Amino acid sequence: MANLKIGVFGCGNMGRALVQAMNAQWPKTEFFLYTPSITKAQDLAQVVGGVCLKQIEEMPKDLDWYLLAFKPQSLGDFQFSFNGDSKIISVLAGVKVLKLSEKFKVKKIARLMPNTPSALGAGANLHFFNTTFNPDEIAEIYSLLQATGKIFPMSSEEDLDISTAFSGSGPALIFELARIFESELTRLTEGRVPAKEIIAQTFFGSSTLMNSALQKEISFEELRNQVTSKKGVTYEALEVLQANKLQSIFASAFAAAYKRTLELSK
Ligand SMILES: NC(=O)c1ccc[n+]([C@@H]2O[C@H](COP(=O)([O-])OP(=O)(O)OC[C@H]3O[C@@H](n4cnc5c(N)ncnc54)[C@H](OP(=O)(O)O)[C@@H]3O)[C@@H](O)[C@H]2O)c1
Repeated sequence: MANLKIGVFGCGNMGRALVQAMNAQWPKTEFFLYTPSITKAQDLAQVVGGVCLKQIEEMPKDLDWYLLAFKPQSLGDFQFSFNGDSKIISVLAGVKVLKLSEKFKVKKIARLMPNTPSALGAGANLHFFNTTFNPDEIAEIYSLLQATGKIFPMSSEEDLDISTAFSGSGPALIFELARIFESELTRLTEGRVPAKEIIAQTFFGSSTLMNSALQKEISFEELRNQVTSKKGVTYEALEVLQANKLQSIFASAFAAAYKRTLELSK
């Protein structure tokens, strides 16, 4: 792949995760980094050998791609006049291509919904390209983003927005489960066992099994059943989860997240 030049607006959790992963696989990529308070751009520039910009006006206008990695709530304050033929990737949750293209007077806008495991090349990254991109441009950005993990094309922005709570927010929901497991194990054993390590290894092992099940076309339900003998230990635990309507609790959580995504898109 040609050595690309990428302008990055916002170097918080997500901007940093994506830039670090791209840099690890494509060390010759040149990054131009901007954040209003400078600090995070400066830190990241040191890690990836990029250029930290002190003023937004210093961002070159002829770069190969631009990454918008700030909060949707900051879009109103964000002012930069892109060249009309710029290629922009936005990770702003919920914000539609049309809104961005009207604001920036740019046609080539892609949306990406990454997640934080991208920093380690283990992200689940959903994307939506509008029809203005040509196959070479899509191939170029695919090569770059492959460094961040698996890429899943979405055929509509609606699908991207619905999926956001599952992949973008997903790690937080899983970490919350891990936190509950750890805290309960610590409480019950009064701290005698290495709860954090046990739980991290259990989640890691389960995730590894889920990935191997993908190739063998084994469902998650079958994996669960392999651990669950009738009237056994796991069965009792699952009965309690079912009686307390765990699935409907998650359904409400995903519905609330989607509602918020739609609010942010306004
Ligand atoms: N975190 C996730 O797991 C995740 C997952 C999927 C998608 N996303 C999306 O990623 C985006 C960023 O989230 P985050 O978690 O990385 O947020 P964050 O950690 O709060 O970082 C936001 C960054 O944006 C910068 N910023 C604020 N206003 C700006 C402006 N006007 N121009 C340029 N940069 C500006 C901030 O600058 P300062 O450093 O100066 O404050 C900061 O570096 C959001 O749109 C979110 O929807 C996040």
